[in-house]
Amino acid sequence: MKLFNYRKFYDKDSLRINDLGNNPIKFFKKWFKEAEKVDGIIEPNAMTISTILKNRPSSRVVLLKEIKDRSLVFFTNYNSKKGEALSDNPNICASFYWAPLERQVIFKGVASKTDENYSDTYFKSRPLESQAAAIISRQSQVIESYEELLNRYNNFLNKNKNLSLKRPNHWGGIEINIKEIEFWQGRENRLHNRIICHLKENKWEIQILSP
Ligand SMILES: Cc1cc2nc3c(=O)[nH]c(=O)nc-3n(C[C@H](O)[C@H](O)[C@H](O)COP(=O)(O)O)c2cc1C
Repeated sequence: MKLFNYRKFYDKDSLRINDLGNNPIKFFKKWFKEAEKVDGIIEPNAMTISTILKNRPSSRVVLLKEIKDRSLVFFTNYNSKKGEALSDNPNICASFYWAPLERQVIFKGVASKTDENYSDTYFKSRPLESQAAAIISRQSQVIESYEELLNRYNNFLNKNKNLSLKRPNHWGGIEINIKEIEFWQGRENRLHNRIICHLKENKWEIQILSP
């Protein structure tokens, strides 16, 4: 495995500042729709989110569930490591890499919990099995064994057969209130296109970055 010799050539597309217009979120939706159409991108909504707890960064993948005018939404367990990190420091970074399109998008913003009705609505839309998993899993806690988790899950499902399940308080949406977006398009000879957008007094300031 000689990683030194890995060399990918990027030449699929280009990105110019004028392509963005004056609304980078609208432009993100355009790129997102393009990513949805590519066979090799199985989960275009998979994004890596980074948080900081006591000065130590952590990253992990979650699924984007809604793109709003100024925010992105995902769902999680509020008592997880990321939940703990965000209640201590709400600054968050979310990034997408769509390899077949040679595109990366990085968001920076501030996280807050979505309102309870919104979380309830999404929770109800999930299959019963996923609802049960969200209820019984103490995300990010050490467990004795996988079998113990399965037993807890099966016992819960047996007891709650035919009942409609209520969203637990420890589970719900996180909204990333966007402050900054960077679009990256791979180019020939590593001279990539990068466009950075900052939200300043409710207006987008859009600039080009050196690769
Ligand atoms: C493709 C993929 C999608 C995932 N989606 C979610 C998600 O939407 N919400 C979530 O809490 N965890 C999701 N996970 C699991 C997280 O990556 C992570 O393991 C979990 O949230 C615990 O993270 P934490 O201990 O840093 O809080 C996903 C993992 C993968 C690989």
